[in-house]
Amino acid sequence: MSIKAVVFDAYGTLYDIQSVAAVTEQEFPGYGDIITQIWRIKQLEYTWLRSLMRRYEDFAVVTRESLAYTLRCLGLKYDADAFERIMDKYLHLDLYPDALASLTAMKPNKLAILSNGSPGMLNALVKNSGLESVLDATISVDAKRIFKPSPDAYTLIESTLDIPPSDVLFISSNPWDACGAKAFGLNVAWIERVTPEAMALACIESEAVAPLTMFKAIRTQMDELGLEPDYRIRALSELPGLIALRS
Ligand code: LAC
Repeated sequence: MSIKAVVFDAYGTLYDIQSVAAVTEQEFPGYGDIITQIWRIKQLEYTWLRSLMRRYEDFAVVTRESLAYTLRCLGLKYDADAFERIMDKYLHLDLYPDALASLTAMKPNKLAILSNGSPGMLNALVKNSGLESVLDATISVDAKRIFKPSPDAYTLIESTLDIPPSDVLFISSNPWDACGAKAFGLNVAWIERVTPEAMALACIESEAVAPLTMFKAIRTQMDELGLEPDYRIRALSELPGLIALRS
């Protein structure tokens, strides 16, 4: 394998989706964690439901609808301004602290994002976070009107970068996305940010399992789909070393 392009998932991989909790907590004190977790769980669920129903709406719509669901199901009253302030955080998510340095160190390779995000959301996020100058492309699944992990979405890497799947290393911390990319035929490095040991510990530490712990159990541990990533890493900072061996 010789790697010519490194392609990243965006939300949860380069950008910390948990960073919305600062805003959800500010708008709804005491509810920040539960809003943050239900919102993300429903957001992803809606991408898969819409893909299966063939009722595509872009990720901006899905993200709004899943936030509306979340606030409704928690019985929270809100005005349009509060809703927009929460939504706005999606355009200003925190980068993982090692993201910029890791990407810069891999620069001789083509670097891109392939994300379920809509073009508008992704372009704003990339610009606001300062990644614009290091990325060669920001690819949205919107061109195919179907979400990852549909194979159609992953075809956009080759059609955009002109590099075949065998020469691409795809990076995701989302287990479902790592499995989807692997099933499609990409080389995959999965970022295991929450170890099984830490997970097990979090579940026995307190009587009431926190929403974040529940989220981690559902969405951070490798799935049982009969697929294995090629590499398991713990952080983006491990990538330059991995790439140096494979380029
Ligand atoms: C992404 C999300 C859904 O595709 O993780 O960036």
